[in-house]
Amino acid sequence: MANQMNRTTPNLSPAKNTEPKANKDHKHQVNCPCGVDFRALRIFEEKGIFRTEIVHRKVHELPEGDVLIRIQYSSLNYKDVLSMKGNRGVTRHFPHTPGIDGAGVVEDSSDDRFKVGDKVIITSFDLGMNHDGALAEYVCVPADWVVALPSQMDFKAAMALGTAGFTAGLSVLRLLEGGQTPEMGPVLVTGAAGGVGSVACLILNKLGFDIIAGTSNITDSKDFITKLDVVRHIDNSVIDDRSKRALLRPMWGGAIDTVGGNVLATALKSCVYGGNVTCCGNVFSGDLETSVYPFILNGISLLGVDSQNTPMEKRVQVWNLLANEWKLDNLFDICSEISLEDVVAHSQAMMRKKGRGRILVKI
Ligand SMILES: NC(=O)c1ccc[n+]([C@@H]2O[C@H](COP(=O)([O-])OP(=O)(O)OC[C@H]3O[C@@H](n4cnc5c(N)ncnc54)[C@H](OP(=O)(O)O)[C@@H]3O)[C@@H](O)[C@H]2O)c1
Repeated sequence: MANQMNRTTPNLSPAKNTEPKANKDHKHQVNCPCGVDFRALRIFEEKGIFRTEIVHRKVHELPEGDVLIRIQYSSLNYKDVLSMKGNRGVTRHFPHTPGIDGAGVVEDSSDDRFKVGDKVIITSFDLGMNHDGALAEYVCVPADWVVALPSQMDFKAAMALGTAGFTAGLSVLRLLEGGQTPEMGPVLVTGAAGGVGSVACLILNKLGFDIIAGTSNITDSKDFITKLDVVRHIDNSVIDDRSKRALLRPMWGGAIDTVGGNVLATALKSCVYGGNVTCCGNVFSGDLETSVYPFILNGISLLGVDSQNTPMEKRVQVWNLLANEWKLDNLFDICSEISLEDVVAHSQAMMRKKGRGRILVKI
């Protein structure tokens, strides 16, 4: 198959970009498709300018790992976009293949936990950050990063969820472990139109919670938010309180915050006594200016959520919940499916912080 240059980026010559040499110590031997040619999205840097194109690579050029996986579906996350833009906090070295999410079939394994033909999910750790990611037909990864695909879930549903859905699941689990119940009042979900926020709304709905959806612009996100069956849709003029008051009138029983900054501070101040507020993102701001009063007068719990280094036991628990008790019949209502060729165009909308639901990538 001929190289497919991305039409949305300047077609600079790749000649000066040095691809890593084939790994001579590569261990795959039995039935290993070492010489197989595959397609991958590749980010190149030239004099501080980053461009992304689809290239052909050989399996033996992948980084060393225990498990070789043929990817069926991937997804697009904000972190992939940061990698494509050359954000050194995400990816230090280029050329690089982004893609923090993948689901596919094991084609080779040197680890007893996985055998050829197993269906697996691979998300987070260093995948797509400093280890070649899953916006490609193959990845080779440490076995410790791999989760067996639950039998009740297929590749497409797994990647419709992806890291964002997994993070939403972790956030909901944190609320429930904190004792959150529907009787405490509606749950505020900020960044509700985005990947994490929209999946969180669907899960909470399924569990019987009422939801207040928060977005940065109520008009822009109105059409999308109607898919989430929320009781109220508010924008930052309501949830970005500048009054300097330590506590506000209680408006929600708890919150899943994906945006940070003063929106998170407001979520804490307006929560009912004993409520739980989770924090996973920084789309609005990475700062948090608050006081001790929500905690010492209202007994609010602020719960951190990290998907990247979640221990394997918790990872398996959340994926199994998403495949069974929390299975979402309406998951594909908030997804759009694209191909590898469409990724750059969609990443630009995401960079403008206009994520809408989930973007599934058919590999
Ligand atoms: N901790 C973890 O493990 C983890 C895992 C996954 C993601 N994250 C983080 O979680 C955040 C959300 O991720 P995502 O995948 O859902 O991103 P996304 O799909 O790009 O969605 C972000 C959403 O935030 C809303 N938004 C943008 N600017 C806003 C603002 N100033 N105030 C309020 N809302 C705003 C946008 O909707 P409107 O245009 O309608 O406002 C957009 O839908 C990101 O910061 C991401 O890095 C963390």
